[in-house]
Amino acid sequence: MNGKFRAVVAGTGSSLPAKVLTNKDLEKMVDTSDEWITTRTGIRERHVAEEGQGMSEYASAAGRKAMEMAGVGAADLDMIICATVTPDMPIPSTACFIQHQLGAKGAACFDMAAGCSGYIYALAVAEQFLVSGSCERILVIGAELLSKFLNWKDRTTCVIFADGAGASLLCRGDSDRGVLATILKADGSMADFICLPGGGTLHPPSEKTISEGLHYIRMRGNETFKLAIRSLEEVSRDVLRKAGLQPSDVDLFIPHQANRRIIDAVGSRLGFEEDRVFVNIDRVGNTSAASIPIALDEAVRAGRVKRGNALLFAAFGAGLTWGAAVVRW
Ligand code: UT7
Repeated sequence: MNGKFRAVVAGTGSSLPAKVLTNKDLEKMVDTSDEWITTRTGIRERHVAEEGQGMSEYASAAGRKAMEMAGVGAADLDMIICATVTPDMPIPSTACFIQHQLGAKGAACFDMAAGCSGYIYALAVAEQFLVSGSCERILVIGAELLSKFLNWKDRTTCVIFADGAGASLLCRGDSDRGVLATILKADGSMADFICLPGGGTLHPPSEKTISEGLHYIRMRGNETFKLAIRSLEEVSRDVLRKAGLQPSDVDLFIPHQANRRIIDAVGSRLGFEEDRVFVNIDRVGNTSAASIPIALDEAVRAGRVKRGNALLFAAFGAGLTWGAAVVRW
């Protein structure tokens, strides 16, 4: 105990749609190949939701598991933050649907749109409410159904993005465990690198926005790729310094699963051996804000995270936004 309250991750959970789409399946849908997708992205298969399903059902399932692991009931939640760019609907926030599905009446609810960095942003915001003493228990969820906004004829996006949800139950604690440091960054001048232009106030939904395909996700992949590697390395070094740690102190690096080549490049620049980097992109794909909390949950349940371990999270995505966090387990 160092006299300061910390945000402690007391439980994790995740939920993926049952339906699996393999690279071979994609070969039949768009001009691509298993070989191209595997070597350029590291993805072999991904999960996609069914028609008629909304993101909240996966978010709630992940949240329930995190609450179970933490031994926290719905009535004990003070706040639910859902990091997403694929809400159930524009109004109201999906966090409110999740609250109702969990039976957490009274908990404050809001969504957080920070692209693939959403979980880091939500974690940092939750930490502030916990260390200030305003909240005791916050459910932080990263959840996306990106498949609903993909143009299945656009091979530059449909082979990468996927669906899923991950959750972390954060409690106010007075030990040395918990969130040690966070850094959040953004540069809006590159907003068009990854965007979904239609359906908002600038281009409200119309026959024209549909016929022009403005309701699909667009990405300038190669430019994003280069920026992501540089920014992830820098923000990781900065957040470790802020936490008083070195890259050599990190037990497990859990990066946003954007592209295997990005993960490998950042990991090697930071000097991490393969066994200090968690990778599940081969099975899960790029699930944007959901990717770190899903990966964290898999790592925890696989026994790869031990009490006292230093974990490094780092993400980069639409906005452009990026950020990193260090958590003592
Ligand atoms: O998640 C948050 C932020 N997002 C990211 O961090 C994603 C970053 N970007 C990437 O992961 C990669 O840039 C992509 C996977 C999207 C693309 O890989 P790349 O190595 O940057 O490829 P490229 O865009 O430079 O394209 C190389 C070639 C092009 O053909 P030509 O012009 O050389 O003939 C593309 O048309 O590969 C072609 N190509 C494909 N070929 C087969 C692009 N997508 C595909 C595809 N299948 N799916």
